[in-house]
Amino acid sequence: MATPRTNELTKVVLFLGLALFFSEAQGRTHRSLAQTTGTAVFDVTSYGAKGDGKEAVDEDGEPINDVAFIQAWNAACHTAGPAKVVIPPGKFVLGQVIFAGPCQCPNPIVEVQGTVIATTDLSQYPSPDWFLFERVDGVVLTGTGTFDGQGHVNWGQNDCEKNPDCVTLPSSIKFHRLSNAVIEGIKSVNSMFFHIFVTGCHNVTVRNVNLVAPFDSPNTDGVHTSISDMVTIADSVIATGDDCVSVGHGSVNVTVTGVTCGPGHGISVGSLGKQVGEKPVQFVHVKNCTLVRSDNGARIKSWPARTANTASDIIFEELIMDHVKNPIIINQRYGCKKNSVPKPSLVKISNVQFKNITGTTITNAVVNIICSEKFPCEGIHVGDIDLQPIPLKGLAQVTSTCSNANVILEGKHDGITCSGAPATPTSTEEAESDLE
Ligand SMILES: *[C@@H]1O[C@H](CO)[C@@H](O)[C@H](O)[C@H]1NC(C)=O
Ligand SMILES: *[C@@H]1O[C@H](CO)[C@@H](O)[C@H](O)[C@H]1NC(C)=O
Ligand SMILES: *[C@@H]1O[C@H](CO)[C@@H](O)[C@H](O)[C@H]1NC(C)=O
Ligand SMILES: *[C@@H]1O[C@H](CO)[C@@H](O)[C@H](O)[C@H]1NC(C)=O
Repeated sequence: MATPRTNELTKVVLFLGLALFFSEAQGRTHRSLAQTTGTAVFDVTSYGAKGDGKEAVDEDGEPINDVAFIQAWNAACHTAGPAKVVIPPGKFVLGQVIFAGPCQCPNPIVEVQGTVIATTDLSQYPSPDWFLFERVDGVVLTGTGTFDGQGHVNWGQNDCEKNPDCVTLPSSIKFHRLSNAVIEGIKSVNSMFFHIFVTGCHNVTVRNVNLVAPFDSPNTDGVHTSISDMVTIADSVIATGDDCVSVGHGSVNVTVTGVTCGPGHGISVGSLGKQVGEKPVQFVHVKNCTLVRSDNGARIKSWPARTANTASDIIFEELIMDHVKNPIIINQRYGCKKNSVPKPSLVKISNVQFKNITGTTITNAVVNIICSEKFPCEGIHVGDIDLQPIPLKGLAQVTSTCSNANVILEGKHDGITCSGAPATPTSTEEAESDLE
């Protein structure tokens, strides 16, 4: 039963609600009660977006939600004070949206409360991006909402393994040429391609995100970085079909910490040595992560003889492996058939540490380091390793292979002697289409 006191409160709330309703009804008005905090709020539904799970077009044939989202962004972006775009609860189906800057407002916020659902009609993506954020300083993508790429409908179109002219499917969230950006809290499921793609950026933090796709979905990397510096990926759970995190060319000062991965292909540097004009990878620090039933744990990968590059100053430490197939792996014969001897990779790998890595593997091959005959790996430190094989069959004896590599064994490394016969490590390999 409501007391008189709460009745009063109800009246106030009602009054405010009606006031808001009328002000909104007066046509696409933007500011709401959140003004009390000094932040102008731009709700996509005030611009006509419909969270009814349907795709709709206006009288000109323009997709209603795409247009509304972009209008809300533009209004927020061109606000002089603090501004925020809100995607309220609901199911919003839409194609490509570009949130471009530069903006007048400082640190624009995009808060996703509901679910955004990618249209499966690929003609609605003029470029391989779904939510594309470009040339903005200090953008924050936040909320408890979900990005649903509906990838299962289009994964079959990804035939890059066989077709060099394959179409690249859209990544769910792309950060392009941003500085001081944050992605936090959101969930992404079934991305058509990468869940999150950070490229051409400076100072980006991805934290507390949950990225999910089936173990056999193609190229659904959790977070892929390229040509970016100061990128941190922290405190997240990533279960996907491809790399949990992939640190691509031109990535400098990348930190991955507190991330739980699996299933998927592990935390990777690369693949490198494929595209013309690649930039070096330097200063990568992977720390305090757990890998569960992933194909790889800590990995560096490069293609055989294609283009030159370098990868250096990489630390993988304090990692827990749980039923991982290849827990410690450098593969410079990436994309090659097992036991094949391709032309040597032109990527030079140096100064890498694998230390304090514990847990279990489902193969005996605890260390798998296959470097380039032409550019042997230098300064590869392996130490404080305690990995127990749980082989599916046969004896649980540790094996280790180090080929064309200067490997320094330190601390505890029971059974790791680097005496295994080099063969290209097996894995369910993904073909990656050319990016950038
Ligand atoms: C990086 O970006 C964050 C978020 O905008 C900001 O708080 C931090 O100060 C930036 N760091 C540097 C070194 O500019
Ligand atoms: C990388 O980080 C180091 C220190 O951690 C700093 O000296 C260097 O300037 C940074 N480089 C880039 C490109 O961010
Ligand atoms: C390590 O990562 C876990 C999440 O997997 C987190 O809860 C914990 O606080 C982290 N520890 C440190 C020392 O950062
Ligand atoms: C080794 O890593 C574990 C987590 O896997 C951590 O708890 C421990 O403190 C680390 N030991 C050292 C010496 O860094």
